[in-house]
Amino acid sequence: MNDYKEKFEKMKIAGSLASKTLDMLTNEIKEGISTNKIDKLGFEFIRDHGGYSAPLYYRGFEKSLCTSLNHVICHGIPGERILEEGDIVNVDVTAIVDGYYGDTSRMYSIGKISVKAQNLIDATYESLMKSIKILKPGVKLGDIGNEIQTYVEAKGFSVVRDFCGHGIGDKFHEPPNILHYGKKNTGAELKPGMTFTIEPMINSGKFEVKVLEDGWTAVSKDKSLSAQFEHTVGIKDNGYEIFTESAKGYLKPPYN
Ligand code: MF3
Ligand code: CO
Ligand code: CO
Repeated sequence: MNDYKEKFEKMKIAGSLASKTLDMLTNEIKEGISTNKIDKLGFEFIRDHGGYSAPLYYRGFEKSLCTSLNHVICHGIPGERILEEGDIVNVDVTAIVDGYYGDTSRMYSIGKISVKAQNLIDATYESLMKSIKILKPGVKLGDIGNEIQTYVEAKGFSVVRDFCGHGIGDKFHEPPNILHYGKKNTGAELKPGMTFTIEPMINSGKFEVKVLEDGWTAVSKDKSLSAQFEHTVGIKDNGYEIFTESAKGYLKPPYN
């Protein structure tokens, strides 16, 4: 019955390290830091705690985590950019520990941000948590997407279609795809032992995406603001477990 217990224990260890990395970065991410410095701090923290950063050299990606600023939806590459007052940034960390993956991301805000940016961050976080709260065996994949889509569209925001959550375990990305939009009671059924990410990318404008020349950086085509949060979760006999919860209770910005 509980043949997934050992796998879940390993997922929890990897997930906790990814989450602790984001906790550690909370005090560092402020006006004046470069995204390269965030990458370096993340790489070192994961290495020093017995893990490895999964993005590094993954399909040619040359950094240890993703930093996606303002109108960047996901897969932003750390570089020289210095964070400034008013910026919002998603940091997405994936740690491998003992062969298992933990994948999580949060938003951070720099100084005073616009009301619109804060509303987008709040709605994106809330949509992720609403979709997690329904998880248990028998729920369908379409139910997950429907929770997210219904919630954010009622606020006038849009769900990015071109990227999705994914199965995860002893591989970084595996089936099934977890779409962040959809219809209730459609798609495959959740089963005990399944492990996957939910990682809604929500735009303040339209959902269309453009990928930049570097082959990675995905931006909103209309340059509208974009936000994302990600958790790695597992389906249990009677509910779910979040492997990437913050031990410090850091949920969404502002963190202090
Ligand atoms: N962490 C991202 C995800 O949530 C994947 C990043 S792949 C990279 O699936 F190569 F861009 F790092
Ligand atoms: Co992911
Ligand atoms: Co991720």
